[in-house]
Amino acid sequence: MCGIVGYAGPQSALDVVIAGLKRLEYRGYDSAGVAVLAGGDLLAAKRAGKLVNLDKALAEAPLPAGPVGIGHTRWATHGAPNDTNAHPHLDSAGRVAVVHNGIIENFAALRAELAGRGHVLASQTDTEVVSHLLAEAFEECGGLAEAMRRVCRRLDGAFTLVAVHADVPGVVVGARRDSPLVVGVGEGETFLASDVAAFIAHTRDAIELGQDQVVEARRDGVTVTGFDGSPAEVRSYHVDWDASAAEKGGYASFMLKEIAEQPKAVADTLLGRVDGEGTLSLDEVRIPAAVLREVEKVVVVACGTAFHAGLIAKYAIEHWTRVPCEVELASEFRYRDPILDARTLVIAISQSGETMDTLMALRHAREQGAKVLAICNTNGSTIPRESDAVLYTHAGPEVAVASTKAFLTQLVACNLVALYLGQVRGTKWGDEIRAVVRELSHVPEQVGRVLETMEPVRELARSLSDKPTVLFLGRHVGYPVALEGALKLKELAYMHAEGFAAGELKHGPIALIEQDLPVVVVVPSPRGRSVLHGKIVSNIQEIRARGARTVVIAEEGDESVVPYADHLIRVPATPTLLQPLVATVPLQVFACELATARGNDVDQPRNLAKSVTVE
Ligand code: F6R
Repeated sequence: MCGIVGYAGPQSALDVVIAGLKRLEYRGYDSAGVAVLAGGDLLAAKRAGKLVNLDKALAEAPLPAGPVGIGHTRWATHGAPNDTNAHPHLDSAGRVAVVHNGIIENFAALRAELAGRGHVLASQTDTEVVSHLLAEAFEECGGLAEAMRRVCRRLDGAFTLVAVHADVPGVVVGARRDSPLVVGVGEGETFLASDVAAFIAHTRDAIELGQDQVVEARRDGVTVTGFDGSPAEVRSYHVDWDASAAEKGGYASFMLKEIAEQPKAVADTLLGRVDGEGTLSLDEVRIPAAVLREVEKVVVVACGTAFHAGLIAKYAIEHWTRVPCEVELASEFRYRDPILDARTLVIAISQSGETMDTLMALRHAREQGAKVLAICNTNGSTIPRESDAVLYTHAGPEVAVASTKAFLTQLVACNLVALYLGQVRGTKWGDEIRAVVRELSHVPEQVGRVLETMEPVRELARSLSDKPTVLFLGRHVGYPVALEGALKLKELAYMHAEGFAAGELKHGPIALIEQDLPVVVVVPSPRGRSVLHGKIVSNIQEIRARGARTVVIAEEGDESVVPYADHLIRVPATPTLLQPLVATVPLQVFACELATARGNDVDQPRNLAKSVTVE
């Protein structure tokens, strides 16, 4: 949510910042802007709309290259997405420029205070108060980092701020509270960004900033302090993917590339954790086995697609451990006063590791004494840093706003955690656990096979692109898959889509069925849970009898569904709990193709942003 870049070094800051913003545009694309310091002057340009509008404006009225610059791509919170509200925001004298991600909750009071001192603010944003306060603080103390510390101490809310001042030509200053900021350390150059993707083309060496810290970045290095001015300890790390991972690599969209990368993403997430013999090793789950054995309740918190992974985790956790598991939308969790104690294990699932709702839920859980295990895809992000332990998914960078490969790797991680808890707690399933661990090793190849057979799904999606509604049905783990299929279609195709538990149909939603309404049904394996299978086959007949056009996702070899399927999508046979890993893939392809047929941008759907860093 909002992408930020800062640069100090020998290259053209303008070029570095614009290239960085291109990599961060997934975080918001309502407007974009840059500011550079050159020859003692501060020069800025900003435009509403996607980055391409800023590019055009810069082509018409170029800015100087300059050795220091900052940039921003916006997901609007306060103030409409227009040129005036775009970042950077400057002070009245045009000497300070600030970019911001987050929400400054006390901005109205600060605005009134500034107005009382004669400041005139041009925008409707919460951010602009910071540029004015920073200019004042700089006047008083003469240092940009110190001015930033003084201002940060006055701000409520969540924020990443990056600023430059025309009187301090070689310096970019950044600050963070509850919102991401990473530092890239190159040879004689330094980068600040919301995400390493912005500078990965220049350096893979990064520094993680802690909560309430200010960084002063110069071409020769950085100084990090707390908001109180005390020297801060920082953690350096090396990013284990390179620039090509954050590029489209010949695909028409990042989403298509990321869907195609799923076999590798799943294999990478399994790597070193399972072997062909069925042995599971999760050494990184650093919560002592003795503590895990005492756990009396598991609570999964997450948002959106990650929440759907959590719903699927519940089936696996309860099956393998016999410990009750609740799954809760992170945004609802702390507001209902949940019952938590030292015997509760909270699992926080987040691709970005920065989702504010999930972060707040895990903080609440830890305050109540619960242990928190994060499942996360982003090294150095806040959620794993604030958890007791982390299991990283290894999906690589996910750039498309709609989550695909991260979801599949979250499912892998959830299954690994469930099996691991079963193993640690010594439940009676030893041999069965080993068998499923062995089955997990086949998933990358199975996902690959699904991807090879997607042409009919694409054709179907194109043929349905003018429909107003698509419904999705599933039972057991197929129900969250149905929810995920509907979410993908909503966010990408902007059409009405809903997922239902197939058993609930007769309790209301069946009234929606009308002639030729497409209904996608995820059918469980006829082997493991044949009662369930029989029930969903009846559900398919019920909706077909009322005119629905049925799109059936069923296991290879399941012939019983053939008479009732207007369109049949085959997926490889897997153990029941692993079926979402293969059954979700056609739904991703379906949504992507249908949205493309409707002329939508699948990487940057309207109104959305990846990494939702405000509550
Ligand atoms: C949907 C999607 C979102 C995210 C949600 C949580 O395709 O991507 O629903 O899953 O915003 O994000 P993370 O996993 O980063 O916490």
